[in-house]
Amino acid sequence: MNNDKNLTFVIMGATGDLAKLKLIPAVYTLLKLGTVSKVSIVGVARSEVTIQSILDEARKNIKNIDEAVWFKLCQSAYYQKLDFANLDDFESLRNKIVEIEQKENLSGNRLFYLATLPEHFEAASVNLAKVGLVDSKDDKWERVLYEKPFGNDLASAIKINKAIDKVFDEKNVYRVDHYLGKELVGNIALLRFTNRILEPLWNNQHIDSVQIIRDEDFGIKNRGNYFDKYGAVKDMLQNHILQMLSLVAMESPKFLSGEYLRDQKVKVLKDVKIKDLFLGQYEGYENEKGVAQGSRAETFLAARLEVNNKRWKGVPFFVRSGKNLNKKEAVIHIRFKPVDCLLAKTCPSDSNYLTIRIEPESGFSFEINSKSLRKGFEVETVDMEYCHHCDHKENTPEAYEVLLEQAIAGEQSVFVRNDEVELAWKVVDKIDTKNMEVYKYPVGSTGPKELADWSKKNNIVWKS
Ligand code: BG6
Repeated sequence: MNNDKNLTFVIMGATGDLAKLKLIPAVYTLLKLGTVSKVSIVGVARSEVTIQSILDEARKNIKNIDEAVWFKLCQSAYYQKLDFANLDDFESLRNKIVEIEQKENLSGNRLFYLATLPEHFEAASVNLAKVGLVDSKDDKWERVLYEKPFGNDLASAIKINKAIDKVFDEKNVYRVDHYLGKELVGNIALLRFTNRILEPLWNNQHIDSVQIIRDEDFGIKNRGNYFDKYGAVKDMLQNHILQMLSLVAMESPKFLSGEYLRDQKVKVLKDVKIKDLFLGQYEGYENEKGVAQGSRAETFLAARLEVNNKRWKGVPFFVRSGKNLNKKEAVIHIRFKPVDCLLAKTCPSDSNYLTIRIEPESGFSFEINSKSLRKGFEVETVDMEYCHHCDHKENTPEAYEVLLEQAIAGEQSVFVRNDEVELAWKVVDKIDTKNMEVYKYPVGSTGPKELADWSKKNNIVWKS
């Protein structure tokens, strides 16, 4: 297999937001950094547009643009109109790609990014294979990336996996969960397994509970058509949250790469169960574009999960995620058990917390108990903090840069394997939300007021 750093990057669904907001800017950065020496973007979609109009939109999302790099990118960018179900269109795409590769003197390495709805995954995969665009026969590589959501339930995910499995080798299949490309999510396993002070305590003997929170201070934007069919459980819990949970809960892999890591995450997903779930919807959601009148789709969820294995028996994992709340934050709190109190009067008010901040601030902090000044043996909590974004303000890679870089390198550990995606659907499919109450909450609040009772019942005090 050749390791040339040049490739053809085919974006299927190139007129969508993902291409303009994330993918093209990420390719630009990789070109600028020299991670790739040359790349031809081939934008593919159903509409009659030009590549220039897509590039113009994408450019708006790049700060401090280096004109020379941008020029180089634009010079070898192309557009091809295509209907995912039409084999003739794929024949034309193949001819175009071969022509471009010759003209641009590329080595034939190809990355296909399916930035489309999952209903197109099957047809697009089958047709790509039929016209020989992904055959991995000679000294070049071809890899196919699938943007989330991967199906909309277990049955549809199995169906897509089966169709893909018939035409591609799993080693060429890269299912995207962009949270796995986030710097501080990528750091979870490293933090755990490279620090002797953490791993011995990482179990139900010492950990009281875990909180995984993703609050957003914006609504569904223009994605009503998609979101209304999914809701927060399928949009956030099935993927991003369960992925973070697996990284927190997994056993030590032999190596932090390749299949070792994914094997361990799979074992966790087999043992995960949602024990209690609470749903909410922001006021005015029904008036959003693309949302059905009377929709019961949840924009807020809180859940108690268990990981039913020896390490985690009895430790609740609380997760929460909502749209249009009062703040934007992605964070994981690990709460350790309280210590035995030595002097009744001076017991620490809370136990230790290890916090992993993913966004908008990033880093770790460790709350430990310490002696208060001039107060005898009174205890106060102090923070030991590592501010990642202070040290790496400009150079922290965007999630999609990491994902593309890893896909180009052929490293699959930051992508979701077929069994992982199915197990995650199994976890959420077990819950029937049809008859559940969906509580309203005002935009800009902390969620439905009824959450307080749910939290009390579940013995959870959300860490702020
Ligand atoms: C997407 C969801 O996968 O992740 C969105 O579909 C959500 O609803 C988004 O807003 C959150 O991603 P990030 O990177 O902003 O935390």
